[in-house]
Amino acid sequence: MVKLQSRTEPKLKREVGLAQLVFYGVGNIIGAGIYVLVGGAAGLAGNAVGFAFLIGAAIALFTGLSYAELAAMYPKAASEYTYLGKAYGNHFLSFITQWMMLATELVASAAVALGFAQYFQSVLASPTWLVAIVLLAILTLIGITGVKRALRFNTVFSIIAIIGLLIVIAAGAPRFGSVNYAYSPGGLTGILGAAALVFFAYIGFDNIANLSEETKNPQKTLPRGLLISVAISTVLYVLVGIAAVSIVPFQQLATSNAPLASAASGAFGPVAYDIITIAGLLTTLNTVLVLLIVGSRIIYGMSREGVLPRVLGRVNPRTRTPIFASLATFAVALLFIPIGNVGEVAKITSFGSLLAFILVNTALLHLRRTAPHLKRPFKVPVNIGWVSVTALLGVITSFALLTQFDLQSALLGMSLPISGVILYLLFNHGKIFAIDSRLHQHHEEK
Ligand code: ALA
Repeated sequence: MVKLQSRTEPKLKREVGLAQLVFYGVGNIIGAGIYVLVGGAAGLAGNAVGFAFLIGAAIALFTGLSYAELAAMYPKAASEYTYLGKAYGNHFLSFITQWMMLATELVASAAVALGFAQYFQSVLASPTWLVAIVLLAILTLIGITGVKRALRFNTVFSIIAIIGLLIVIAAGAPRFGSVNYAYSPGGLTGILGAAALVFFAYIGFDNIANLSEETKNPQKTLPRGLLISVAISTVLYVLVGIAAVSIVPFQQLATSNAPLASAASGAFGPVAYDIITIAGLLTTLNTVLVLLIVGSRIIYGMSREGVLPRVLGRVNPRTRTPIFASLATFAVALLFIPIGNVGEVAKITSFGSLLAFILVNTALLHLRRTAPHLKRPFKVPVNIGWVSVTALLGVITSFALLTQFDLQSALLGMSLPISGVILYLLFNHGKIFAIDSRLHQHHEEK
């Protein structure tokens, strides 16, 4: 789910309670990752695929706690740009972090479009790249013309995504315990490789902080909402992973275009295959739509702030949507389609996100050390002096997972920060190492 907020709107109403926040969070997190990547993950981790999901959950949890503290400190402008700016006062670091969050949003839309195309194979055999491009084009048009209407269906799509997962769990439940869940053909390396792949399934937890302005009692509700959303997704993912390998041998799961449909049909027959295929198609379609819209709005916002070319901030008077920003989003997503493999593109997304998450965690640590006097409406528990143990673990585990990416994914993943550096130098005229006191003003905010 997504929040769209125009700059001219009056102050947002605080009306989001805990239940709604959790719903928003779970809707943001659950998507193509579980529906598509569980097959590839089973190929790497074998029956131990559940452990791969647990590793991803731990990183999401550590980093999510840091987001919760920072979002409660700066609820009016919850964004990576603000967090990094407040911590380091350096435009370049702020820009690069925000750019990576944007770039991962755009690359993720390519990954999920490829995921949609993979499920689509079960309906009609067709080249995945073609299906992915057509889907991106149609959804870009929808984003330009009828965004409000499209997003109203978002809640329904999120419920469908969850029901699909519950069906798979129900299908596997009678067979729980039928295989050895610690067995991984590639040992620990296989499990860690699978964790790098499925981390994608957790991306989106960071968007919960976006609702800080609309959440009632955000200091308490935000961290709770975040933790509960990650917990619910983790339980669903681990159970789906266990169910899938209990029904279908992991080798078979790894080669399926629609792994969860294959799993469900293994227990409930061909009708279940069709139902889960439809759930997979709708879930991935919805995720792409949301990613494209959020991506275009971030581009629009960055252009309005003057950090991207001005043309991208233009709003078409007739459609009242940022057409150029939407087309730019489409164009960047298109660049990643030729990679062709959903897992590969998802890994690029995760790589970029993990880099940004490391920066966010260090921003929290830096603020704890240099500005201990700041009011922290929510302070992450478990601290040794100024050191937040979970933020430190967030840095260490994100970094550790980064080392598990293959060279190709790592190099492609590095294209995200590198393109950010090029853009910064082209459009920002700022010096990379300069400190700007206007950005870095936390000392006055007692
Ligand atoms: N977590 C989101 C998904 O799995 C990106 O589709």
